[in-house]
Amino acid sequence: MAIDPNFEENRELEGREHGVDVWGPTEPPEQLGIRGVHVAVDFDICLSDGACLEDCPVDVFEWVDTPGHPESEIKANPTHEEQCIDCMLCVDVCPVDAIDVDPGRTDRF
Ligand code: F3S
Ligand code: F3S
Repeated sequence: MAIDPNFEENRELEGREHGVDVWGPTEPPEQLGIRGVHVAVDFDICLSDGACLEDCPVDVFEWVDTPGHPESEIKANPTHEEQCIDCMLCVDVCPVDAIDVDPGRTDRF
């Protein structure tokens, strides 16, 4: 299952963590929700492949520890999403479609 590109309508904003918005539902450590706005990562789908960190030309992503999550115990957090230049490489390379990037979704900065 891929990230829901309409998460802003379909999910509740629960707060912020690691410098980005958190969209629920969450139930840590097993359920962590979607993280970010312009560059959004579904932490419950991410399995720490790492291609997004390697390929992003402007280093938007940073690893964060997520001990106890069933898919992986580190996740790609879009910490520097405001630097994104919409190249879409991360969207293309993620093997599990955990990332959605929307150039129009910048209203929260
Ligand atoms: Fe980087 Fe993805 Fe934006 S690769 S530049 S975060 S579209
Ligand atoms: Fe995760 Fe996909 Fe990146 S699995 S680490 S969001 S390439």
